[in-house]
Amino acid sequence: MRLKDKVAIVTGGAFGMGRATAELFAEEGAAVVIGDVDAAEGERAAAAIVAAGGRATFQATDVSREADVAALVATAERVYGRLDTIFNNAGIEQPVTPSVGVTEELFDRVIGINLKGTFFGCKHAIAAMLRTGGGTVVNNSSVSAFANVGGNISYAASKGAVMSLTRVLAIEFAGRNVRVNAICPGVIDTPMNERNAERAGDRAATEEKWRAITPLGRMGTPREIAETVLYLASDQSSFTTGVGLLIDGGRVAT
Ligand SMILES: NC(=O)c1ccc[n+]([C@@H]2O[C@H](COP(=O)([O-])OP(=O)(O)OC[C@H]3O[C@@H](n4cnc5c(N)ncnc54)[C@H](O)[C@@H]3O)[C@@H](O)[C@H]2O)c1
Repeated sequence: MRLKDKVAIVTGGAFGMGRATAELFAEEGAAVVIGDVDAAEGERAAAAIVAAGGRATFQATDVSREADVAALVATAERVYGRLDTIFNNAGIEQPVTPSVGVTEELFDRVIGINLKGTFFGCKHAIAAMLRTGGGTVVNNSSVSAFANVGGNISYAASKGAVMSLTRVLAIEFAGRNVRVNAICPGVIDTPMNERNAERAGDRAATEEKWRAITPLGRMGTPREIAETVLYLASDQSSFTTGVGLLIDGGRVAT
């Protein structure tokens, strides 16, 4: 029980990596507050955790709206009495587009959710953690912060900035028992990549291309991501702050 009696928020917890992490956090003893724009699936995710014997609450949240994120943190404190951990995971992809074709609206939307949403999560969660003596933050960046994936300029910019934000906060709060880290996944088998593969036209060929650029020869699973988030959220990583941990099957090493 690596998160026994802890209280955690997972944004984007209705699907993909967020859902797998919410489930693992609950298995490890945490009460989990899931925030997501998809209320129907978010409710189902929380109900499944409760049905399995865990503690979970869902709150409809658009992370690009600061008031929503403040309310999400307030819910964790009201329902469970404190906040120990946040996984700022909610994010969207940029459909593959040449950089000169990216509209202001698309750029603002990707930055609004992936970067501003992460900032709001850090800001309000850290303020809550300071009220009870500290905590841990894990932000979901991407291999795109380190390697050129191509055709996704707003996404790459948002994820690079999430790394910068992670380092700034790690240093700012290092003396107050708040650790701030990021994960940088490669290609993971989630609904986001199902959409990416469908947009590319030939799904089988796209997945084969992803396997070919990944030395371990496959896509990662949401559970493999959840295990790493758990490590960074828990005391197991007690001497680690300000890092972006690649979980990419060796891709950036090539
Ligand atoms: N899938 C990958 O290969 C990959 C690789 C690197 C990083 N990431 C990042 O991991 C995170 C999770 O990705 P995933 O693949 O699980 O995606 P996903 O699309 O499968 O799930 C994302 C979740 O976020 C929610 N969401 C979307 N916009 C939101 C908003 N404004 N407010 C609250 N919730 C919102 C969705 O409803 C969904 O539940 C994202 O930040 C993504 O950029 C994904």
